[in-house]
Amino acid sequence: MKFFIDTADLDEIAEAKSWGCLAGVTTNPSLYARTGGKLADFEPHMLKIAELCEGLPVSAESTATTAEGMIEEGRRLAGLAPNIVVKLPVCEAGLAACRALADEGVRINMTLVFSAPQALLAANAGARYISPFVGRFDDIAQDGISQLADVVACVKNYDWAGRNVDGEVEIITASVRTPNHVTQAALLGADIATVPFAALKKCVRHPLTDQGLASFEADWKKVVEQA
Ligand code: E4P
Repeated sequence: MKFFIDTADLDEIAEAKSWGCLAGVTTNPSLYARTGGKLADFEPHMLKIAELCEGLPVSAESTATTAEGMIEEGRRLAGLAPNIVVKLPVCEAGLAACRALADEGVRINMTLVFSAPQALLAANAGARYISPFVGRFDDIAQDGISQLADVVACVKNYDWAGRNVDGEVEIITASVRTPNHVTQAALLGADIATVPFAALKKCVRHPLTDQGLASFEADWKKVVEQA
């Protein structure tokens, strides 16, 4: 399973990239707003992320509400850099825009997916990536992982050759809150987990690793002192 970072913060992206295991970035309007971003800077900011992560897929979400608006904004976003993936919500307008943009060779990440039928519709509309949300189910005391299991099993049942520019559909586990979400997603065979920076840090660190590092350091100090 690949790791994407779920943020619009350039410093967080640069740090996660420096670890050598980052495969992509996802952003959304709330994440962009959290960086203090202004509407006029949205596209230049997406371009900065795409340049920082050259060669890796960077999802930039359209904020339009009509199919026409999404198509127009999607073309603009996709034209910024070759690694930009246009993120669209799964709804009637989003599906129609996905079909139109996919037919033009644009890679689409269909977001706000909460059910297997939504995921199958997105794949049929030409989505390159499908983002089922896990944490938001947990927020309402429902089981996000079992919903993810349904999406993974249903999408993996079929061959999507010819449906989008790459002929494959990858599932991005989204709305990830904890390392356990990552583990469960990998056990289910989800292709990708997109993880916020703080949760990604929690995936890197483990108390026993920290304890091991501290004891190595103390033992090594003794060796140096005895020399
Ligand atoms: C990713 O593509 C989504 O925008 C993101 O994971 C949503 O996460 P949230 O439920 O924490 O807002």
